[in-house]
Formats: sequence, C-alpha cells, structure tokens
Amino acid sequence: MKKYSDRELIAFGLDPKRIPKHVAIIMDGNGRWATAKGLPRAAGHRAGVNALKDIIRFTSDVGVESLTLYAFSTENRKRPKDEIGILCGLLIEYFNREIDELHENGVRIKSIGDLSWFPMAVQETVRAAEKKTADNPGLKLNIALNYGGRAELLRAMKLAFSESAEPNETAISRFLYTADSGDVDLLIRTGGEARVSNFLLWQIAYAELYFTDVKWPNFTREELIKALRDFAGRDRRYGGLKPNGAK
Ligand code: FPP
Repeated sequence: MKKYSDRELIAFGLDPKRIPKHVAIIMDGNGRWATAKGLPRAAGHRAGVNALKDIIRFTSDVGVESLTLYAFSTENRKRPKDEIGILCGLLIEYFNREIDELHENGVRIKSIGDLSWFPMAVQETVRAAEKKTADNPGLKLNIALNYGGRAELLRAMKLAFSESAEPNETAISRFLYTADSGDVDLLIRTGGEARVSNFLLWQIAYAELYFTDVKWPNFTREELIKALRDFAGRDRRYGGLKPNGAK
C-alpha cells in the first residue's frame, strides 16, 4: 500500500505523477553473482531471494499497483534437477518466512504460469499464500512460476475464441493471467542481458525497457530508484505525437 507522501517521493528524486502502475522484473544474474564470489550457484539464488524483500516493500510503498516477477520460466525446467530442487526449496522457505508480513502490508499474491508442473509441496505453499491474501487491497504481486509468454498467449487466444469467433484485443487481454494488472509500464531486467526471454509478450507492447548490468542479488532499492527515475524521464507517446504535434 502506498506509504510515502508526494514530498517524500520527491525527496527520493521521484516524480509523484510518474510512478509506473505496473512494473515487471526479470531477476537475472544470481548464478553469475555466486560464481564471481567462488560460491555455488545455490548461494546466488539464496541471495536473490533475500534481495526480493526490500524491492517488494519499496515498490508497494511508492504506490506501484502491480509488480510481476519472473521467478521461473518454462525454459528453466531444462536446468539440472538439483538446481530446480534448490529453487523449489527456496520458494517454500520464502513463502513460509514472508507470508505474514506481506499479508499485513496488504499485498495480494498471485502465481502466473502452470503451477501443476511443480512438486505438490510447492503448489500447496503457493496456493495457500494466494488464498490468504486474495482479498488484500494493496500491491498486486504476480509471481511467474513455470511461465512462458507464448504459452500464456495461446491459452488466452483459445479461451477468447471459445467465447467468440472474432475476439478483439480487449477480449484476449481479459484471458491473460495478469488481466487485472493491465499492461506493463516498466520492464526491468538485471544481469546484463538485453532480452525479453518470453516474458509478458502481450503486456509489454508499450512498456519502457530498462536493462542494467547489476546482478539481481545486488539490486537494492537505490537501483530500483534509478530505474524509476529513468522511467519518469521517458517520453511515452504510444506511437502518437506530442500535444504540440512534434515527434
Ligand atoms: C536468474 O539467475 C534467476 C532465476 C532463474 C531464478 C530467480 C529466482 C529467484 C530470485 C528466487 C525465487 C523466487 C521467489 C519468488 C522466492 P540465473 O540463475 O539465470 O543467473 P545466471 O544468468 O547468472 O546464471
């Protein structure tokens, strides 16, 4: 839930009128963060989970309405079994540790993607968190788990076509996992790659893209503030012209 007043936002160097409604993050670079320190990749994932807490908190406090996080892609299923096992364990640990505080802060948790692929313990943990927070009025926190953008689109289109022979864009949008969060305004990718990697393909049609070399475990609120300032400085025209007719 928004906590900061306009004055406080300005003190952070943020423009209260240009806070994105929907932020999406590709949290990349955990493995490389660990390797660079001579640690196992698992230590990078653990550090990555620890970085989440303050980012979710700050996003909510500045008044972002929806935050969608890429935690596990359909392609991540190709990773070695033990790394997948570690990620599943971290996920369960994370929810057990954080759920009460998230709930108190009014965060509404929703998983997007095909959860049925995960071990039952993961499914149950995530479903319980969704159920507990379903009626919360604050930040909509969408966590992509076994998520792929093309699969999401295919699913939405099938559903839209089963409803009508000629669905329009609004009809397809309604069947996306993120229907109640709307289009993404700002997409952040950490870890130095400039790719979209099958994330929210429909929803990012007009998103501002922000790529940073900072690896996810090092992505602090100061880094998020940089991204939000960068967003505020962008000139969003959605393919149109400025009111004065200039491009
Ligand atoms: C990318 O780093 C990160 C992932 C594949 C997993 C991201 C997951 C988390 C941060 C934690 C789990 C989420 C929740 C919600 C508890 P990488 O392994 O691809 O890094 P690399 O590119 O350096 O190898």
